[in-house]
Amino acid sequence: MTPEKLVELAKEAMAHAYVPYSGYKVGAALLCADGTVYQGCNIENAAYGPTNCAERTAFFKAVYDGHRAFTAIAVVGGKDGAVDGIFPPCGVCRQVMREFCGDDFMIYLGHAGGYQPLTLAELLPYSFSPSYMA
Ligand code: THU
Repeated sequence: MTPEKLVELAKEAMAHAYVPYSGYKVGAALLCADGTVYQGCNIENAAYGPTNCAERTAFFKAVYDGHRAFTAIAVVGGKDGAVDGIFPPCGVCRQVMREFCGDDFMIYLGHAGGYQPLTLAELLPYSFSPSYMA
């Protein structure tokens, strides 16, 4: 699996977004350590708070299926599904990544011209991790 292909799968996932309130379609493609890919989209709610981001949809689908080890995630988003600049993961999604992933987990932020690679350590420095609960 290449970063480029993972970004393509994230773009494909945008089509599944349920966004009657913001209009921002977001797609994610999560690569498991065994090579399986889980796609996710954002799912909004009239009460706003229960909205689930694309990244967490992908993670929760994978975890439900028994996956606990992950290599990378690609994320793309934009108004009405138009991808222009990057659409970075929110703080809650970064923390969900940290629950299962280490410093070297890769995040590929897709944009019109390609993708920006970042490590989880770059995206969430000085993070609170499961190790603090040991
Ligand atoms: N959103 C995501 O899906 N992922 C993020 O990490 C940031 C925000 C969604 C939530 C909401 O449906 C829309 O983008 C606008 O905030």
